[in-house]
Amino acid sequence: MNTFVRIFVLSAYVTLVLGSTAKELLTPEFIDGLSEKWWGPLGEENNASTCITPFTIKFSKMMITDLLHRINNRREVTPPLEGVAFQYGFNTDNLDYWMDFWANHYNFTEREAYLNKYPQFKTNIQGLDIHFIRVKPQVPKDVVVLPLLMLHGWPGSVREFYETIPLITEYNVDNGFAVEVVVPSLPGYGFSDGAVRPGLGEIEMAAVLRNLMHRLGFEKFYVQGGDFGALIANNMVTLYPEEILGYHTNFAVSLAPGVLISYLSGSINSLHQSLVVDPALAERMYPILRVALLLMEESGYLHVQATKPDTLGIAMSDSPMALFAWLMQGVSGASRRSYKSRVDGGLHDLYTPEALIDNVMFYWTENKFTTSARLYAETFNMRTFGTGLESIPTPVPTCTVHAKDEIIYMSPAMLKYKFQNLLCSVPLDDYGHFFALEAPEVFSKIVLNALIEFRAYHAKNKNCNHTEL
Ligand SMILES: *[C@@H]1O[C@H](CO)[C@@H](O)[C@H](O)[C@H]1NC(C)=O
Ligand SMILES: *[C@@H]1O[C@H](CO)[C@@H](O)[C@H](O)[C@H]1NC(C)=O
Ligand SMILES: *[C@@H]1O[C@H](CO)[C@@H](O)[C@H](O)[C@H]1NC(C)=O
Repeated sequence: MNTFVRIFVLSAYVTLVLGSTAKELLTPEFIDGLSEKWWGPLGEENNASTCITPFTIKFSKMMITDLLHRINNRREVTPPLEGVAFQYGFNTDNLDYWMDFWANHYNFTEREAYLNKYPQFKTNIQGLDIHFIRVKPQVPKDVVVLPLLMLHGWPGSVREFYETIPLITEYNVDNGFAVEVVVPSLPGYGFSDGAVRPGLGEIEMAAVLRNLMHRLGFEKFYVQGGDFGALIANNMVTLYPEEILGYHTNFAVSLAPGVLISYLSGSINSLHQSLVVDPALAERMYPILRVALLLMEESGYLHVQATKPDTLGIAMSDSPMALFAWLMQGVSGASRRSYKSRVDGGLHDLYTPEALIDNVMFYWTENKFTTSARLYAETFNMRTFGTGLESIPTPVPTCTVHAKDEIIYMSPAMLKYKFQNLLCSVPLDDYGHFFALEAPEVFSKIVLNALIEFRAYHAKNKNCNHTEL
């Protein structure tokens, strides 16, 4: 069964069976259990260091020599079918260009220095060494500094945020605040450890990353996320509504029962549809069949990674060419729908080749493909959906932005079932799934505007106590 269908069946189950009782799941035992779960090797639970250690990315000579050897000794690939662009996957006519670029033009020394341009650290959370960037703004002591956790997804990395970090942390007096960012590699990604036993999915990762913020001294903070970063953040605002001061997402999705029922109700007739979505944006959601077929066409990777990530990972960790093609197939497909019919996958249109290879290096350097792909297997299953967490609404003030070519569009009327304080929802006529990487200036401005909204919301509501509701 396609994973898309599985998600639908699972969410229907959540709606019917768990929907009404889910809130009772948010007991201190459940929440503390998530927080205390140990994902590292057994036997080290009582001896974990709480140190925060500076970290720099190293492209070792040995790693580079081995990588070049593999690239230069790659097998010849099967040519694409006549007249086919990216419809059958990565167009192999392009691979020689990219492998030549990686081996002969990607300057490892220079890129290593670039990737180390921000302060980076590691600290052990629940048995895993978590890698993160932390950039503080340069401001006088009396300026309010807002802590912002920024979360990437798959097939991305912290690299997606490199161009936005200086824009977001640059102090603008007019805003009345400055921003400090914490940008972690998700567990199992980049330079963060993966779990050694099953179970670390999107819910459990929410606990790990909240613990990271606590370790850094932030009891309350803002969060921004796209792709899997958004799914994880959805859980953070559900589990810790008192701690998350505001949530901004460029991948606004929810499988909460109300959201799905609202979506389905819009297909009854045009009157119902106009209650669900602004007619100007309706074609992003309807007809459901067209949207569903498009999702199925592009989500085969998701089903494989949600079921057999380890087998796929054997090829990906052995062949830089396979890894590059698999990750970039995803980047191409999620950037613009039209790129499927482009022989070059459109990869040069929006990103520099260096940025794309930088991102692949976050998977290659420490052989993290398999642990990254396991996040799908640990998330799209009954354990995760069965908690019913999705069906619990959150009072955390939320702002969303909707790039035109984002994979999924959900209207504000739908999202309000999950995000009860949806303060802003910005539809855009341009851009795609890797919004921060593609348009750092626009992205940063929208995130900063959301922070302004959140601050205004808190100023207005400072005398009302949400726990009394
Ligand atoms: C505890 O950690 C320290 C420092 O990492 C190490 O030297 C020591 O052997 C560990 N002890 C146990 C019982 O694992
Ligand atoms: C790579 O970059 C470094 C640092 O900028 C520079 O010294 C070196 O000459 C470059 N190598 C090549 C082959 O261009
Ligand atoms: C909010 O209300 C709850 C329950 O009445 C109370 O325990 C909590 O201390 C209150 N918080 C604040 C900030 O007033």
